[in-house]
This record gives sequence, C-alpha cells and structure tokens, in this order.
Amino acid sequence: MTREKVIPAVPERFILADSNTVRLLSEKADYVLPAGEESKVWARLEEILAAMLGADLSRDSTVVVVGGGVVADVGSLAASLYMRGARLILVPTTLLSMVDAALGGKTGVNFGGYKNLVGTFYPAEEVRIGIGFVESLPEREYRSGLAEVIKTGLLGDEEVVEILESRREAIADRDFEVLEEAVWRCILVKGAVVERDLREGGIRAHLNLGHTFAHALESVQGFGAWTHGEAVAWGIARAMELGVRLGVTEDEHADRVFRLLSQYGFRTELMPDAADSLVAAMRKDKKRQGPTMRFILQRDAQDTVIEEVEAEVIRAMLAGE
Ligand SMILES: NC(=O)c1ccc[n+]([C@@H]2O[C@H](COP(=O)([O-])OP(=O)(O)OC[C@H]3O[C@@H](n4cnc5c(N)ncnc54)[C@H](O)[C@@H]3O)[C@@H](O)[C@H]2O)c1
Repeated sequence: MTREKVIPAVPERFILADSNTVRLLSEKADYVLPAGEESKVWARLEEILAAMLGADLSRDSTVVVVGGGVVADVGSLAASLYMRGARLILVPTTLLSMVDAALGGKTGVNFGGYKNLVGTFYPAEEVRIGIGFVESLPEREYRSGLAEVIKTGLLGDEEVVEILESRREAIADRDFEVLEEAVWRCILVKGAVVERDLREGGIRAHLNLGHTFAHALESVQGFGAWTHGEAVAWGIARAMELGVRLGVTEDEHADRVFRLLSQYGFRTELMPDAADSLVAAMRKDKKRQGPTMRFILQRDAQDTVIEEVEAEVIRAMLAGE
C-alpha cells in the first residue's frame, strides 16, 4: 500500500480501465469499459476477451485492471478465462474496491437479472493499493466504500469501528493517514477470512453481512439505482433489525450500528411497500439453500452468526408488521 497512484510497469501489459479511471492513467488503456454496474454483463466480457485476443496476449501477459469493483469483477473474470488464466494485477481506485472487491478472488458478471451469477474464483497475483486514488472519487462513491469499511469493522476489528466513530471529520476530509490505518485493518480482516475459506464453504459467508438484503434491494430497484455500498448499509440495518426481532442481536449493538450508519448519511429506513418484492428477490438469490433463507446476523460487534430464517419472518420484518 502506498499513497502514490502507480500503475505497475510489468512487461506485456494489457491495461483495462473504465471511462472514468482511464483519466487517472498517464498511459493508454487497451480496453475501456463504460463506467457503471450496467457494464457487468456478458457482452462486455466478450468484448474484453476479443480485445485481449486482438492485442495478441499470451498466457504470460499481465492484465492490469485499474478501477473500482465493476471493472475488477469483469476484468478479473476475463483474465481468469483467457487461455485458461492470464496473469492478473489489480489496482483498485475506489475505497470499496480497496477494502473489498479487489481482495479475495471473486470475479463475476450479472446474468439473467441476478447479481454476480456467473463468475470464477481467481485471486490476483498482486493488489496494488494507492490510497491517493480516493482523492478524485465522487462523494457518493467514497461514502459507498465507507459502508464496506463499516461492515468489515463490525465483522472483525473493533479498532476500525472506533476510528469510524471518533474520526468522522478526518474521514469526511479523506485524511490519508486515518484512511490508511482503516484500509490496512480492513485488508487484514478480509485477508484472514479468505485465507481460511476462499470458496465460501464456511466463515467467508460472514462477509455477506447485509448483502442478502442489499442484493434484493439492488435487483428490485434496478442495478445502479443505489450504489452497492448504499445498498449494503441499508442491508446491515435490516440485519440488525432482524437480529433484534429474533432475540439474537443485543439492542445496544443494533442502536450503535444504526447511529453509525446514519452518521455517515446512509438510508436505513424500512420500505414496507417493497416488502413482497424484496422477499421474492431474496428467494431467488443464488445463495439460498433449502426452503428457509440464511442470514448473517450479529450478537454483538465482532460476534457474527449464521441463522436460517423463515421467509414469512423476513416479510413481516420488512413490512414493519
Ligand atoms: N469481487 C468481490 O469480492 C466484490 C466485493 C464487493 C463488491 N463487488 C462489486 O463491486 C462493484 C461495486 O464496486 P465500486 O463501488 O468500486 O463501483 P464502480 O467500479 O462502479 O466505481 C464507482 C464509480 O467510481 C468511478 N471511479 C472509480 N475510481 C475512481 C477514482 N479514483 N476517481 C474518480 N472516479 C472513480 C467509476 O468509474 C464508477 O463510476 C459491484 O458490482 C459489486 O458487486 C465485488
């Protein structure tokens, strides 16, 4: 991790950026993905593969992906497929990608209306983090990354939660020193989880705190209407509410999380009118196993559990009944 916005100078590079991050480069990109979640589709993946072939890439060439989670997900999937796997370096340029998307090897595109339905596990050989990239992030995208920082702190590092609570102004000002500390701690949390469970057979599922709700919200409202982080923050609020209802979550913990989310400007309110469609979307979620649905809940900070919950309980909670 550095503060510099460095693109690695490796031989035979294929640089993949999006239409915003291409402006951060001092060299030419080999493929530029239109920015936005709408680019996480099969057609774009095919275009990238065609561009790789057109550039005469060999398996020893290195795909260098410069951007946020969208370009990382599609670019890493393309790298994993090209000649059964090209070399891959990720240069995350969003806060969300630095603490989450660029780590842990999940690649993917949205397919058939489902988020990340098609993908592979393909960890990058290197992830080069330049904190300086956050400087040019639009405010909404920066805040979106903070949702994943909140999530990661809640899961695995009390110090991160305390930094978020006590250094709100410094974080709002994008103070590099404070951010470096928080980002580094998040990397250690995610790294430790992924090292134990790359393919999500067990503990990696904890990283999905708030995500079942978030994915449902994203698919009901249309991908892109909410940023991923905004949806995750909303989902974390729902996970707290569900936990309290089930007698799993301490009231004080839920209150603390709601306070933190609203301090950072996230929407946490119920949307009773959408309850039925949200449950329908969750039922179809690819992570569902059996008739009940699995949810990641917390007893307290850094104390996470997985619970099977009846769909009707979820519907009633979402409807505010
Ligand atoms: N693979 C994983 O483990 C994983 C984990 C979390 C999220 N994700 C995926 O990540 C995606 C969300 O990622 P994201 O929030 O980074 O979104 P994103 O990639 O769409 O980036 C957000 C916006 O910021 C722009 N941008 C990026 N860096 C910039 C910079 N430094 N300066 C100015 N603008 C910049 C982008 O062009 C884009 O418009 C979702 O598709 C989600 O599913 C994947």
